[in-house]
Formats: sequence, structure tokens, C-alpha cells
Amino acid sequence: MSVPIVRTVRELRAEVSAWRRQGFRVGVVPTMGALHEGHLSLVRTALGRADRVIVTLFVNPKQFNNAADLAAYPRTEEADAGKLAPLGAHMLYAPDVAEMYPDGFSTTVSVSGVSEGLCGAFRPGHFDGMATVVTKLFLQTGSDLAFFGEKDLQQLHVVRRLARDLDIPIEIVACPTVREEDGLALSSRNVRLSTEHRLIAPRLAKILFATAGRLTEGASIDETLLEARNAILEAGYQQVEYLELRANEDLAPLSKLDRPGRLLVAAWLGGVRLIDNVPVAPAR
Ligand code: PAF
Repeated sequence: MSVPIVRTVRELRAEVSAWRRQGFRVGVVPTMGALHEGHLSLVRTALGRADRVIVTLFVNPKQFNNAADLAAYPRTEEADAGKLAPLGAHMLYAPDVAEMYPDGFSTTVSVSGVSEGLCGAFRPGHFDGMATVVTKLFLQTGSDLAFFGEKDLQQLHVVRRLARDLDIPIEIVACPTVREEDGLALSSRNVRLSTEHRLIAPRLAKILFATAGRLTEGASIDETLLEARNAILEAGYQQVEYLELRANEDLAPLSKLDRPGRLLVAAWLGGVRLIDNVPVAPAR
């Protein structure tokens, strides 16, 4: 059993039109490959909601603000296709850069507000590049549903906003973060951690969950976030880019925990940038 690989917009549209003629609901799971259990859980959810599921694989140069990071990004198409086949995904759409961005390509989708701050403050251009390719993937595939992980929470909010603002008729389905047994959020970057750093990495999630609990119990937000930041550094992380409490609904900054929140973090460990977030219940 193998998953059909499609490389061009023309082939993709022909296949999707045939599915539509049969009345199928189409779902898309956008990825940059290097598939792990987190991606596979998105695909399983998609297969439960749609009749036909397209997984996209495109390492999008426009969303990397660092050329070395782009060059080092794992490219494992054969292995990825091998993981998708047994799940029953219906298509792997893997265009090359010239197909996605033909000569003369000059349009950028830029979502203001929700893409500013958090990762947006540290990765200039990242969300513009991401929003541009995701918009193209939505329009190319014409999907009814799209599946995104909550681990990249700001990305999820940016995607929801662009679909709403551009009247793209697609439902954005948020899927929970998948974690290793020790709590580390699954990420394609985890394989770049040394053995020593892999042991340190899960402390980040532990600190986040403990901090969320303290905030719900009514601890001071500023003091608790400062203590958590120090705890992350003491745990062995080299740098905390941000650690912020935001509103769950729209990622607006929260100075009072009077509605459901999210604690979001980005931190560096041994040259690897890890992000994570956990829900925070309103203060009791
Ligand atoms: O989350 C990702 O892997 C990427 O940002 C996405 C959504 C596939 C767009 O390139």
C-alpha cells in the first residue's frame, strides 16, 4: 500500500474535482515533512472528519528567517510517505519551490495583530511566509477542513484569522498537542537535541504546567512568570525568548486571569529553539 504523490497544482485540482463530483468532503493537513506522531495524530483526526485527506509536504523557504535553519531542515519524503500509507491518507501533495512560487511571484499574505509579539517578535517574516503558503495551500486544495496542532498556537490563530478575513470557506480544526511520556511536546526539532539536552528538555513542560496551576490558585502573575523564567534557566535552558500569559480565545495579553488563559513559551536548549504552551484555568 502506498500513498499517491502529487507534485503539481494541475494534477491536484484534477484529483480534488473528481472527489468533489463523488460528493466527498476534503481535509488537508499542511506539513513541512519530517513527520512525527504529532503530525500522524492530525492525519488520524482528519481521516475521522473528512472522506479524503491530503497531506501537504512543502518546506516553505518564505517562512525561514535564517538560511542555515532552512538548509538544515530535515527532508525525508520517502520515510514520510511510508508513514502515511498505513494510516490511509489519500494523497501526499509535495510541490517543489518553482511550482509553489513561480518566477515573478510577488504576493504576501500578512496578518496584523495576532502575528505580532510572541514568536512574531523573534522570527521576522516568519508569519508572513507561513500565512502566504497556507493561503495558497487552502486555495490550491480547495479543502473543506484544515487540521493544525495547538502546539503552534500562534500559527493556529494566524491561520484562523486569514481564513476569516479572506472569506476562504474552510473550517480550521485545532488538534491537541501530542507529548512524549515525559511531557516534552513533539516537534521535528526534538531530534536535534543531544542526549544530555533531551533529558533536560521535558522540564520546560513541567514548569509550564506547575506555573499554570499556581496562577489558577491566584498567585501574582508578574512574580510567578519571573520565577518560572528563572526556573527554566536553572533547569538548563540557555535563553527564554518569551514566557507570557495570553487569553486563550484570541491571544490578547492578560493582566488578570479572569478568563481562560494560555501560558506560552519559547526557549533555547543547546542551539535548539523549543516552543510550548499550556491552558490556564481562570483564577479561583
Ligand atoms: O507548521 C508547519 O509545519 C508549517 O508552518 C506549515 C503550516 C506547514 C506551513 O508551512
